[in-house]
Amino acid sequence: MPRVFSGIQPSGDVHLGNLLGALRHWVAGQWEWDAVHCVVDLHAVTVPQDPAELRASTLRLTQLLMAVGLDPEVCLIFVQSHVREHTELAWLLQCTVSFGDLRRMNQFKEKSADADFVSAGLFTYPALQAADVLLYDTDIVPVGDDQRQHIELTRDAAIRFNSRYGDTFVVPRHRIAEAGARVMDLQNPTSKMSKSAGEAPGTIWLLDDPPAIERKIRRAVTDSLGQVRYDTVNQPGVSNLLDILGAATGRPAADLEEEYDSYGTLKGDCADAVVALLEPIRRRFAELEADPGHTQGLLRQSAERATEIASRTMGRAREAVGFLPGGNWGW
Ligand code: TRP
Repeated sequence: MPRVFSGIQPSGDVHLGNLLGALRHWVAGQWEWDAVHCVVDLHAVTVPQDPAELRASTLRLTQLLMAVGLDPEVCLIFVQSHVREHTELAWLLQCTVSFGDLRRMNQFKEKSADADFVSAGLFTYPALQAADVLLYDTDIVPVGDDQRQHIELTRDAAIRFNSRYGDTFVVPRHRIAEAGARVMDLQNPTSKMSKSAGEAPGTIWLLDDPPAIERKIRRAVTDSLGQVRYDTVNQPGVSNLLDILGAATGRPAADLEEEYDSYGTLKGDCADAVVALLEPIRRRFAELEADPGHTQGLLRQSAERATEIASRTMGRAREAVGFLPGGNWGW
């Protein structure tokens, strides 16, 4: 089975777009791939974080991933900072990629543009990301288009390291996430549903209760054409509702258009489908939330499994670079 690595930031909350666009495929994929899911708290601290909030959101994201259906007995779900090799390999990769490579990264340009404090870690962020991927001999990194540049940098780093020091890392491929539904903001259906919309009524959060879901879908922006057609150019709001309904019920959006002639019934069915989709997730999350010790126990075991893999790779890297054996961790 190919090893597939994904990293997810413990900031903000998870919404319906994340679920239908990516998480659901991760859940299905855990049976097809050797899947590794990492909650990247080290990446989170490249920008200022409130410590109590970071701790809480790291646990919460892990529990959300499990509530959605990622099973820590089937795939590997762990917290990045629990495995020290991430920071250690990141250093070697900072010494492998060039200043110029990092300076070209679009995410850095965007995130640093209007920040009043730009940490050095924000600049070297892609080297840490490369370490995440390379430590696990990853074959495939399924990412959205916004991460393509980072994965290309990861490949370049692996290739450069291997040619300098001899074969050490598997060179991963990236795969732009396909198939996943593209869920748009309910209030602004030409932009993707996003975290940054904050409390905005156009985002459905995974843990929204049924009345909140119904209210947001009832108030979703449509148009004045008065017909239900799947036409993302002229009817983006209606098409988005068809997409959501289709993704939630497993039917093609284009087939559904014929079944509706009013926006009201489309919205009603869409809301029912989303409530039915999210109810079991909310229930499982509540159980997990009630017993944080259980999740933390699972995370401890996962960290051990992750460390086993990561420490082997790190050993190869240390040896390749020419570090003298004799560290206090037994190397
Ligand atoms: N940078 C990624 C993001 O912002 C998160 C991430 C960290 C990641 N490490 C990774 C993604 C490794 C894929 C592989 O979404």
